[in-house]
Amino acid sequence: MSAVTVRVPAKVNLQLGVGPIRDDGYHDLVNVFHAVSLFDEVTAEPAERLAVEVRAAPHSRVAVGGVPTGEDNLAARAARLVAARLGVETAVKLSIRKAIPVAGGMAGGSADAAAALVACARLWDDREEPALTRDDLMELGGDLGSDVPFAVLGGTAVGVGRGERLTPALTRGTFHWVFATADGGLSTPAVYGECDRLRLAAGEAAAWPTVSEALMTALATGDAKALGAALSNDLEPAALSLRPSLRRTLDTGRDLGAIGALVSGSGPTCAFLAETDEDAAELADALDSAGVAEQIVRASGPVPGATIV
Ligand code: C5P
Repeated sequence: MSAVTVRVPAKVNLQLGVGPIRDDGYHDLVNVFHAVSLFDEVTAEPAERLAVEVRAAPHSRVAVGGVPTGEDNLAARAARLVAARLGVETAVKLSIRKAIPVAGGMAGGSADAAAALVACARLWDDREEPALTRDDLMELGGDLGSDVPFAVLGGTAVGVGRGERLTPALTRGTFHWVFATADGGLSTPAVYGECDRLRLAAGEAAAWPTVSEALMTALATGDAKALGAALSNDLEPAALSLRPSLRRTLDTGRDLGAIGALVSGSGPTCAFLAETDEDAAELADALDSAGVAEQIVRASGPVPGATIV
């Protein structure tokens, strides 16, 4: 096998319910993941030793400067995990082409790790019944990051625990999204920390989160308006506290007709839902003219997880 390329989607969290902090420092979550058609590509090809190269995808303005290319790159760690499982050398070059914002709350790093898992597993074992199944790769992904298993799976799914224990959700039709990216990322641990700090300052005990029935019904019936009304993110107050300018971005999107608006994951990307593809195109143009974001990107969901192309 000379090279394997895998396309992997970004995610937006339709519901991010953050429960109490656990002994291991993580929070128990109810996390409704939704994969959208904004893709990174990872190509794995044989090389003398493990190497990682990261570039913006053609036509993308993603700033890749902050992505590590050494040992601790999440895709490199994914390659090492697969190699260890298959008992082979980690002799691979990983070329990552990014369209998913870096540290943007859309799980770009997790997506690259998921793509590397799938690409390396195929590169090193192309039998019809490979030693590592999709389920095995999802399990390996859970050791790399809470969002990695979902990037392998794709679609729409409910995650519990750290977010890594997944159950696919029933959905109907396609949902149309507009994303507003921001200059500079937000650190996920910092946003969780701010969430804890705000709750402590308000004297609020973190409630145990439960899946929103309204959200599940909206997904199952393909009701975009109901979905827009049911979107929720417990990390949003923390992201707004660390990046107050996002409030204006969200308000602008709502004023311009979005039927749902929220910070994506730990931010700073903001996600807006539109009823139709045409509405999404209009909203994207209007948001672009309003100048409240670094870049405006349209995408639809759900889409499949990491896929060999
Ligand atoms: O698992 P992952 O490496 O993606 O998580 C990044 C950070 O996000 C963790 O170090 C932790 O601070 C925070 N986190 C959390 N609870 C979760 C998932 C992530 O506190 N369930």
